[in-house]
Amino acid sequence: MNKALWVAAVLALAESTSPAAADRKAASIIEGRCALCHGPEGESASAIYPRLAAQNAEYIGKQLKDFRDGRRKSDAMAEMAADLTDGEIAALAEFFAGKPPKSRRPGDTDLAGVGRYIYVKGNPYSGVPACATCHGPAAHGTTQLPRLAGQHPAYLQTQLKEFNKRARTNDNAVMHTVAAKLAELELVAVTVYLGGLE
Ligand code: HEC
Ligand code: HEC
Repeated sequence: MNKALWVAAVLALAESTSPAAADRKAASIIEGRCALCHGPEGESASAIYPRLAAQNAEYIGKQLKDFRDGRRKSDAMAEMAADLTDGEIAALAEFFAGKPPKSRRPGDTDLAGVGRYIYVKGNPYSGVPACATCHGPAAHGTTQLPRLAGQHPAYLQTQLKEFNKRARTNDNAVMHTVAAKLAELELVAVTVYLGGLE
């Protein structure tokens, strides 16, 4: 190989592994695939698709690996994540985590009031734990725990039901124990409350 070719090859290799290249790759994956359902900036206009904007990067990364490796079942997402490398997943997670959360119109305020009680205090009479102890007082989550603030209530309700049925199995049963204790009114109320938070 002559010197010019060799230099070009080294530059191409450095380019393909650099963070800027990973960002460009992520941007093209989002435009070509994810934006259709989750929106170009993760704002997800439709209530059945979860918002990804401002979601915690480590949590997004874990979910994408779980979809890819079959630990979290989803017909839509299994196909989307099937060929993603760990590097692409990290870049996608950083992209969405860096986008601003979208504010929403508050839902039914009476229902949201019941939901706030459940979120902050749980239901001491039936043993529902306070969500805030894990998901944080403002529902922004932690590095590993999902942000729930501003998420679509319909999506949150589906997930709570899936945890309860053990159809969503990738959290080591923590959320199953929580969801199994929630009455229908509490489940709807807490998600309406969460949907109205920023
Ligand atoms: C055809 C629509 C569709 C496309 C395209 C799509 N998704 Fe999804 N995504 C979904 C659905 C539906 C769910 C909820 C899955 C469930 O019910 O468990 C989801 C869930 C997720 C979650 C989990 C969010 C959470 O709060 O747990 C992440 C992360 C995600 N998608 C990222 C992506 C990325 C990155 C892409 C592009 C590579 C993508 N999605 C493309 C429909 C889609
Ligand atoms: C003991 C800690 C703990 C408590 C208490 C808790 N959660 Fe969770 N929750 C988790 C963990 C951990 C996950 C992430 C699971 C995973 O990695 O897939 C999670 C995930 C979720 C999700 C899925 C979010 C998404 O984007 O897909 C919802 C919805 C949820 N929790 C709602 C609640 C509600 C409502 C309460 C209170 C009634 C609650 N949680 C109490 C630990 C907790």
